[in-house]
Amino acid sequence: MPGDLPIDPQKPLPRHVAIIMDGNGRWAQQHGYAARLQGHRAGVESVKAVLRACQELRIRYLTLFAFSTENWKRPKDEVDGLMRLLRDFLVENMGELVEKGVRLRAIGHLQDLPDPTRHALEEAIERSRQNMALDLILALSYGARQEIVDAARRIAEDVQRGLLRPSEITEQTIQARLYAPDVPDPDLLIRTSGELRVSNFLLWQISYAELYITPVLWPDFREPHFYEAVRAFQGRQRRFGNVGPA
Ligand code: IPE
Ligand code: IPE
Ligand code: MG
Repeated sequence: MPGDLPIDPQKPLPRHVAIIMDGNGRWAQQHGYAARLQGHRAGVESVKAVLRACQELRIRYLTLFAFSTENWKRPKDEVDGLMRLLRDFLVENMGELVEKGVRLRAIGHLQDLPDPTRHALEEAIERSRQNMALDLILALSYGARQEIVDAARRIAEDVQRGLLRPSEITEQTIQARLYAPDVPDPDLLIRTSGELRVSNFLLWQISYAELYITPVLWPDFREPHFYEAVRAFQGRQRRFGNVGPA
């Protein structure tokens, strides 16, 4: 790790960082664009910056909230634009990401995505399957309540088939039926653009995540902002319900 980063090499780094990438619409407005999509376009550079920073710090898991189940309520133009942007991002950048050891994954109701976007996503996931440097997990048509509902349904099916007794249901039973059961819980949750809410993101998994909220709008977010969030994380005392050090 280069010495000029504001990171303390003696303190642990987050293994998993999750980001609610918010503020694209406000960025577009602030820059005088009529279309919110200009903000989403600009946000692609921030995604690349965060990927570089994660690779620099050797962070193993990065989850990005790219599109929520609730975001389908937005105007059709914006939704269509976002779906095209995602496909273009994958087509244009997957080669480089694969070379860098990034393994692309996705969580959410991917069957809701338009065909060209879903195909590009499936292809990118397949191409990068063997990679192990960084898992980039895109939350797409993702809702945390929906994820828990889906898990509950699968548990009910297993009980009905006689594979599981209700008295045997534990946290592990639920965890094992989430969309990415092998991924450790996020240690650090970043939200840009200053909103103090979690907007139906990873509700189960963020039980003990450290929260970092910055007023910076997502399209303005760059490596120094990411390092600052990690530095703040390193200054936190995690207790997990226990007492702190004397
Ligand atoms: C986040 O930016 C991107 C998505 C939700 C897809 P917004 O589009 O929510 O931007 P604001 O919150 O309106 O500024
Ligand atoms: C959360 O942002 C969803 C994503 C970043 C994809 P929103 O902008 O949709 O959240 P709210 O509506 O402000 O809660
Ligand atoms: Mg928003």
